[in-house]
Amino acid sequence: MSDFGSRSAKLFRVLQMQAGVSRRKALDLVLSGEVTVDGAVAADPFVVLDPDAATRLALRGHPLSLDAREPRVYRFHKPAGVLCSHDDPHCGNTVGRILRAEGFVGYTWVGRLDQDAEGLLLLSNDGTLVQALSHPRYEVRKTYRVWLAEIRSERELENGLRAMERGIEDEGETLRILDGRIEGRPPHVVVSLAEGRKHEVKRLFSHRGFAVTRLLRVAVGPIELGDLAPGAAERLPLSDEQALLGTARELVGGPGAELEGDFLNDNR
Ligand code: URA
Repeated sequence: MSDFGSRSAKLFRVLQMQAGVSRRKALDLVLSGEVTVDGAVAADPFVVLDPDAATRLALRGHPLSLDAREPRVYRFHKPAGVLCSHDDPHCGNTVGRILRAEGFVGYTWVGRLDQDAEGLLLLSNDGTLVQALSHPRYEVRKTYRVWLAEIRSERELENGLRAMERGIEDEGETLRILDGRIEGRPPHVVVSLAEGRKHEVKRLFSHRGFAVTRLLRVAVGPIELGDLAPGAAERLPLSDEQALLGTARELVGGPGAELEGDFLNDNR
């Protein structure tokens, strides 16, 4: 955890670690006046914070911990209807609110889900992990179960899945699944994707004439939702946590690496 491990650390580094944002985002947040230290707006992202002297750090009014902590990773089952946002003026039902109520300070999640979608979000207080698993550059496999309004014929759906594997042009982007198969009675679809473009699964199926009625994310990388109940959060077993953190460090190239992801952008 580099300089943050020795208690005193520059403000932007503390923000990176505790809010799970990139170095660039941390600098921007301070320079745009969204960070306060002991109630006063912080002006200098490079100021050294001494946790023994400063007592309160807040981002957009939300408290962040000043204590260097062990990096942790949780599985969280986002219920349908909950918005992936730290806070939203029009919707009180946010992941941020649930996490604060559960005492998660300084955690953020990997990869957003639409408000009507449900399933696995990984939560972490480790900025490097959140960056590595969120950034399209690292192509982390995400798996979804998808229920459709009407399946006219399984053959048509199979053809659609093969077309999705080859890639579908939509709004100037090429959308693609890694693989897909039909399962169960009544049938639904299991698809895996490497990228997390906005509404990607719904756009892919809509392009082939299928409307998604339910979308459940069942895995992010090697971590599975399993039978975790909606609304529940559970810490990963230590071995999984260590493996994930190790992979994240390798992908990103160590703490402090610069990425362009905008992990506090709630506009989705
Ligand atoms: N694709 C979607 O369409 N929505 C999500 O929430 C995730 C992937």
